[in-house]
Amino acid sequence: MNTLATYDEAIERTLYTAEDIARAIGRLAAEIARDHAGQPLLLLGVLKGALYVAVDLARAIARVPGGPSEIFVDYVCASSYGNATRSSGEVRILKDTSMPVAGQNVVIVEDIVDNGLTLQYLQALLRGRNPAHLRSCVLFNKPYHRLVDVPIEYVGLRSPDEFVVGYGLDYQELFRNLPYLAQLRAQVFSQEG
Ligand code: PRP
Repeated sequence: MNTLATYDEAIERTLYTAEDIARAIGRLAAEIARDHAGQPLLLLGVLKGALYVAVDLARAIARVPGGPSEIFVDYVCASSYGNATRSSGEVRILKDTSMPVAGQNVVIVEDIVDNGLTLQYLQALLRGRNPAHLRSCVLFNKPYHRLVDVPIEYVGLRSPDEFVVGYGLDYQELFRNLPYLAQLRAQVFSQEG
């Protein structure tokens, strides 16, 4: 665990402000609302990272006139990184869906897609449950180290090829509650023991 005293000391730079993120979510909401006009929609956030984006997206979709007839929000909790800075590739489901997926128009909501293994695993898992439609939405796309080709219908912002934190993304469970996306200072990692 690092010993930098405050969040401010640990942050190298802001990559996307809270306003940038809100605008991106507004764009994603408009696209999702248009594709589900007059139909029920099940937003499925992938915890923990998507805890903010799923909520903000659900609210933004509800504000779009002529959008879905009903909006359901559910979560799965999946982990592939543990406390490491690189994905292990081994996805563990820590909490499954609580709503039935069969026959639903499902949009998986991810905070970030990096090597793509987590999303690929979830898409296969959910496809096996026979949804009417299965689509995926990612707020921060990090396409530089993809190991698998996963379809993503809704893409918000491009993440730089850095370890990023904030707006749900963590480093050793810290920084999720930053309202913006940030790059950490190198000293944070150099204090890893
Ligand atoms: C992060 C993120 C995605 C996944 C993306 O989750 O929220 O689910 O990694 O990585 P990938 O495309 O390389 O598979 P993480 O396992 O860190 O768990 P968390 O959401 O609880 O932080």
